[in-house]
Amino acid sequence: MPLATHLLALAIFAILLHRISLYTHRLLLSPLRSIPGPLLSATSRLPLQLTLFRGTPHTTFLALHKHYGPIVRIAPNQLGFFTAQSFKDIYGSASGFTKDPRFYNAPVNGVHGMVTEINDKQHARMRRVFAPGFTAKALIEQEELIVWYVDALLDCLAQHALDGPLDVAKWLNAMTFDITSDLLFGESFGCLAKGKIHPWIEYMFTSVKALVYMGIVKQFPWLECAVAKCMPGKVMWDAKQHYSVVEEKVGRRLRSDSKRTDFMAGVARLGAGDEAEVNVRLEKGLSRAEVCSNAYFLTIAGSETVATALSGTLYYLCKSPSCLHTLTSSIRTAFPTSSSITFSSTNEIRYLKAVINEGLRIYPPFAHGAPRLPPPGGAMVDGIFVHEGVSVAAYNYATYHSPTNFYLADEFHPERWLGTDQCFANDVLEGVQPFSLGTRGCIGKTLAYAEMRLTLAKLLWRFDVKLRKESEAWDEQRVYYLWDKGALMVDLIERE
Ligand code: HEM
Repeated sequence: MPLATHLLALAIFAILLHRISLYTHRLLLSPLRSIPGPLLSATSRLPLQLTLFRGTPHTTFLALHKHYGPIVRIAPNQLGFFTAQSFKDIYGSASGFTKDPRFYNAPVNGVHGMVTEINDKQHARMRRVFAPGFTAKALIEQEELIVWYVDALLDCLAQHALDGPLDVAKWLNAMTFDITSDLLFGESFGCLAKGKIHPWIEYMFTSVKALVYMGIVKQFPWLECAVAKCMPGKVMWDAKQHYSVVEEKVGRRLRSDSKRTDFMAGVARLGAGDEAEVNVRLEKGLSRAEVCSNAYFLTIAGSETVATALSGTLYYLCKSPSCLHTLTSSIRTAFPTSSSITFSSTNEIRYLKAVINEGLRIYPPFAHGAPRLPPPGGAMVDGIFVHEGVSVAAYNYATYHSPTNFYLADEFHPERWLGTDQCFANDVLEGVQPFSLGTRGCIGKTLAYAEMRLTLAKLLWRFDVKLRKESEAWDEQRVYYLWDKGALMVDLIERE
């Protein structure tokens, strides 16, 4: 046999030996060996990556949880949790867990915003700067602008409903992107005015999907190298163009002399130019690149989530006619005019709040889990010790659809939030954390609730809503970080 053949055989043998010893170690010697889960997931990352590629993490994790219990080994070094306690232990303020850097990528400028920043001190600096735009006082000031956009949405809907059924999810997206853009940059995307989704937003959806695929590729270094070589320059150029729209908008906002308490109020106060670079060193302000990264994430985080929650809630209401009837009547009874519907007046309608919470449970905008790493030395999560370096997450969709956490978990029952029906007495309501919690929890939670209450109340005050046959199975969607929402076709009939 020639020497080359010998060497090849030797190399194959060495690779095989390495693989066998690696898999044996993962199966029999890893500290995670006693955690239940599929055999293949314990030895290889491939099943998890395939799930993400197919866009089915929500249903797959639910199936795994139903089969294996409250904690599942979903990859050799990764655990999925599905309990209320795990949310507190992983994300609570005192947990000491940090974001897993493999899942949090900076935008195309390479500079982290607060969502992706791993370092807690750097994150706190950024969050402090944006905080003035998210206080209770700021929300009161922002209400007038939000009411204006909600009324503009309803006028658009009234006009288009005359032509027949319409895709209400698209229109909700148009409104939330206009609101967020106005509160960030002082100018909207003009989606409602033009009656269509701005190309920037269309591209954003594609790029988020691409990010999921890149995340998968990153798990396999040899593949990452190959993809980087094959990636056409055009892809990168498009991504930079997309990002540059935010840079331009940030520039215009900071050059303006706006005194509004919007999302940029704190940044504008500190400045974001050369002076801010000095502030960064003094650990106060933000560099211009950081402002842009944060604005980029805020545009998406502040819009897509609220539109998704509203679309989902409306869908499930339509599928549960008695709930829709109860909510519509309570809104029309409580409010004599549309203008009496406000942030604070809607806060008094218990059934409305229960409907929104149930919508967030059954269709959480962030269906995934947010992966975290334990502090040095490891930490306890829901009664088990998690070693340093093991990635953990509590998964929203699967936890909320778990029959061990909720009675009739796959059904829409706002009553479970009212404490009026004994059959839901054992529901683990504190396990519903769609905004996450702790220092990395959602900065826009109060705003999101207010915006959702206002929009839903005004919409149902003015229109009767009926789901179209073609959208009966609208909830059968894939997840690529965000829900891959299809058109939500409804008939809207304006009240006499
Ligand atoms: C229904 C609506 C919303 C839901 C379900 C939601 C959910 C979440 C979740 C789960 C996180 C944590 C992500 C992680 O740990 O990786 C988060 C963070 C964040 N959200 Fe929201 N969000 C919503 C609305 C909003 C709004 C309206 C804004 C702003 C206008 C916003 C801005 C942010 C920001 C900036 C962060 C990062 C916070 C930080 O790291 O300090 N979100 N959100």
